[in-house]
Amino acid sequence: MESILYTPIEIGLEKPVKILQVTDVHLTKTNDQDSDYHKDLQTKRFDTFYKEGGQPPKTPSEYFEEAIKMAEDMGALLMITGDVMDIQTYGNIEEFHRIIDGHDCMFTPGGHEMQKRCVRTMEEADNYWEASRKRLQEAFPEFDMDFSSRVIGGVNIICADNSLDHYNARTLSLFKEELKKGLPIVLFSHDPIVCGALNVWEDEKIPYFTEEDYKIRHEMIDLIKSSPLVKAYFAGHWHAQYDQAVPDASFRSYATPGLFKGVCRLIELK
Ligand SMILES: [Fe+2]
Repeated sequence: MESILYTPIEIGLEKPVKILQVTDVHLTKTNDQDSDYHKDLQTKRFDTFYKEGGQPPKTPSEYFEEAIKMAEDMGALLMITGDVMDIQTYGNIEEFHRIIDGHDCMFTPGGHEMQKRCVRTMEEADNYWEASRKRLQEAFPEFDMDFSSRVIGGVNIICADNSLDHYNARTLSLFKEELKKGLPIVLFSHDPIVCGALNVWEDEKIPYFTEEDYKIRHEMIDLIKSSPLVKAYFAGHWHAQYDQAVPDASFRSYATPGLFKGVCRLIELK
């Protein structure tokens, strides 16, 4: 690994809990089932990330394998916050499985896991996301793409999907149930919270959003910000380091750079 960010979070635990967060791996694999278009695209995208990552000495797959070993060696929970696959190719699904199968981890998706190309368009919006998300869920039945949680050492570690810039009704409803447990919460999603809003798009109209999407997004963000149980919020998406106090909330929001750069984050809950 080229760099491990260290983030201690004071909760008042008897024993520390370690989490190794990796995000935005951007695997660019293809196999025989993939089209020539996808093979060509993923070759080009590999070069893009190689340059963006400052020509790192290892491949995204090698950093991913290294992170899994590091997490196991240090007794940390491996937390994966999306964009593991650059796009949803057969090759990337196969590679993601090859690397994580047999290892314990938690996962919440990024927008790229749902993409067949690299841009979002209105043509894609119509049924596209739903169908793509269904394929992703079928390919990885071990993960619940909407929401998952795990209590470790008295802390509720939660993955809440916001990979398409909003939350869905099921995610909101399951989060409300978790709040009833009354345990301290450390929250993981793909999109960061910045300036108290999700991914700084609070006032921007997004063409494929429904009124219901906006309503649920606001309710979820308000719940997260107003709950004294939420102790920290970790995301990825920007491929850059971010660490700020969230306005009108009692916790900080962090974004972790992409693992394709050889960077991950060790979180120590104390
Ligand atoms: Fe990404």
